[in-house]
Amino acid sequence: LKTLRDFDLKGKKVFIRVDFNVPLENGKILDDTRIVESLSTITHVLHSYGKVILCSHLGRPKGKRVPEFSLRPVYEYLKTVFKDREVKFLEDFLSPEAEKELENLKEGEILLLENIRFYEGETKNDPDFAKALAKFADIYINDAFSVSHRAHASVVGVPLLVKEKGIGFQMEKELKYLSKIVGKPERPFYAVVGGSKVSTKIGVLKSLLNKLDKLIIGGAMANTFLAAKGYSVGDSFVEEEYIEVAKEILKEAKEKEVKIYLPVDVVVENNGQVLAKGLREIVKEDKVFDIGKETVKLFCRSLDGAKTVVWNGPLGYFEKPPFDYGTVEIARKIASLTCTTIAGGGDTLSAIKYACVETGFSYVSTAGGAFLEYLEGKDLPGILALTK
Ligand code: 3PG
Repeated sequence: LKTLRDFDLKGKKVFIRVDFNVPLENGKILDDTRIVESLSTITHVLHSYGKVILCSHLGRPKGKRVPEFSLRPVYEYLKTVFKDREVKFLEDFLSPEAEKELENLKEGEILLLENIRFYEGETKNDPDFAKALAKFADIYINDAFSVSHRAHASVVGVPLLVKEKGIGFQMEKELKYLSKIVGKPERPFYAVVGGSKVSTKIGVLKSLLNKLDKLIIGGAMANTFLAAKGYSVGDSFVEEEYIEVAKEILKEAKEKEVKIYLPVDVVVENNGQVLAKGLREIVKEDKVFDIGKETVKLFCRSLDGAKTVVWNGPLGYFEKPPFDYGTVEIARKIASLTCTTIAGGGDTLSAIKYACVETGFSYVSTAGGAFLEYLEGKDLPGILALTK
């Protein structure tokens, strides 16, 4: 893969596929991590006298111009970051004015395209659509690892049409760290997996079992595993149809000599009451929302001695204290380890921010689905397209 440093960017239209899919509330950006992560790439192109064209999606507007999914708030944000630069916003890159706008774009200027998913052609990877978009690219740079699992026009279609293509600094960083887990992780190698669903993690769990020494399971998905082991988990969220899969995973782990850690106690909610319970004490109305204190101790102890740790998914309903305890304690523990610690996927970044331990990790990925697919060992279409 070529990187930004491999190109002469001067005077070129540098099309950067970024992931500005940031959480918004009433037009306010709630978490700017993904934008901040892309700034080094943008700045590098500006300093190299390139013309920056930024392309991103936001949410899933399904080919319609849904105002709440406009990238305008990101445009306003970028204007404050690049105060001394010309930052422009293009509402419709297919309009006749767009061509003029592109012609007039000068070296060291930024042009942000409106949400690319406002067009149906994006998710369909329509060839004509990709061709129109490719006009904006002398050089194509993918700096959006987090969307590289989508075979969409701006991720796959455009790079296939452009000769000069490569990855940005953010993507480079993602690949550098994530390849440490996908390749040959230094052992002992432990994984902490949480979140609500076993169904979204089967691929990752199965693939990790080939390399792991320990697998620590928490979050609502642990309920499904506890059910697989014959425990009653009351009124908790359980994926009934995945109990068999959970059994299979437990069996496979045994065969592959991967030690599995499940909760030994829990914290439940029962008619507004919060109760700490042993596994055998769970009653019909109980909803398990967190791992218990004994489990926290057990999980923390089990992490000692690791050389590589990967973490995906919160251990409990951390958004709703006091059910944040397990997630915060485990986040702190992993952050305190001196080995390689990598986290990512879905809510994991929010959990780490919530626990204020970002700096304790070797690397925190901003990716959700792409993080999981990459860990599964899948080739991401957005990365493959850069090699063709
Ligand atoms: C993400 O948030 O994981 C990426 O931006 C991809 O978004 P998507 O799941 O809507 O494709």
